Amino acid sequence: MSGGRSVLFSAAADSYELAVREIRGEFGRDVRVQRVGADLGRVDGASVQEFAAACDVGRIMFVRHLTEEIASFAELPPEYELADLVLGELAEYPKALAVQAWTDDAGTGGSYYHRLEEALTARGVTVTRSGQELVVSCYVGRKAILLGLNRRADSLSDWPGGRMRLARGEERVSRSEFKLEEAIATFGLELPAGGKAVDLGASPGGWTRILRQHGQEVWSVDPGSLDPRLRSDRRIHHEATTAGRFFAANRVTFDVVVNDMRMDQVTSARMMLDAAGHVRRGGLAIVTLKGGGKNPLDGARRGLDVLREQYAVLHARQLHHNRYEITVIAERR
Ligand SMILES: C[S@@+](CC[C@H](N)C(=O)[O-])C[C@H]1O[C@@H](n2cnc3c(N)ncnc32)[C@H](O)[C@@H]1O
Repeated sequence: MSGGRSVLFSAAADSYELAVREIRGEFGRDVRVQRVGADLGRVDGASVQEFAAACDVGRIMFVRHLTEEIASFAELPPEYELADLVLGELAEYPKALAVQAWTDDAGTGGSYYHRLEEALTARGVTVTRSGQELVVSCYVGRKAILLGLNRRADSLSDWPGGRMRLARGEERVSRSEFKLEEAIATFGLELPAGGKAVDLGASPGGWTRILRQHGQEVWSVDPGSLDPRLRSDRRIHHEATTAGRFFAANRVTFDVVVNDMRMDQVTSARMMLDAAGHVRRGGLAIVTLKGGGKNPLDGARRGLDVLREQYAVLHARQLHHNRYEITVIAERR
């Protein structure tokens, strides 16, 4: 992995232009940005490390995966050449590498994964799909196959192109559950053991269920109902009211506040200021700021400015399971 290489970035196809605006805002108008797929772009003029740092703290929100491009082909070369190419990039011979493949549509690029796996395994390298310090990316586009190599620490996500796939078991209460699970995994969040959490906009209870799995006692605030499967759990308290009314009467101090309420970014962030008086210092906040309006980037930035009045914003990103919204991780000041 050497300097001066192009960086490949993934963003939701609908949010691609927002990502480009952010990239130009961060690195100046001179960086070259080129769309190479529905949800993939190429940037020249910024290093992957500085790119990752800007994404990590949420200055760039609409990018969810990064890799450094090492080659581009019309067809994948034979295995021995592939292995030479990847291994020739590394100063030290690796014991293990992750290989991640994906396609321009929703495909997993399975056959490309296997070809890379075979090529590298034949050279004595252990290959897995995730969990390694170094990641080989293989993006299969309509016109070209692009290979990337990156430190996992600079990749933003340990999934191919940031497309996290979670099991859809019958125990799931809502699709929204995926968003909270993805946020916890992506940002490595630890919820305090035996903590008290308030879930704003809880119905039908997907986030509440995940919070319970992470050991929280949960106050689930929503005029809407909770899934019947959650009713017998005595550590779930359904508060069938709005967030504003709940805080007007509440006496509990929370360790965690999560908010998935359906409302625009600024209104939702203002509700978080109401919540702040009921959350201990250092308490964790997880919020989805929902798209809305003609300009979701400016809306998200305005929402973040409001949040910063009472919270330190740690991360802000459009994750794979977010549609027209971003997920914000913050800490009560
Ligand atoms: C996307 S759903 C939440 C899904 C939930 N996180 C889950 O995992 O099942 C949004 C919810 O916000 C609730 N909501 C909207 N305004 C609210 C308010 N002022 N107070 C409480 N809940 C509100 C709606 O009733 C709706 O159930």
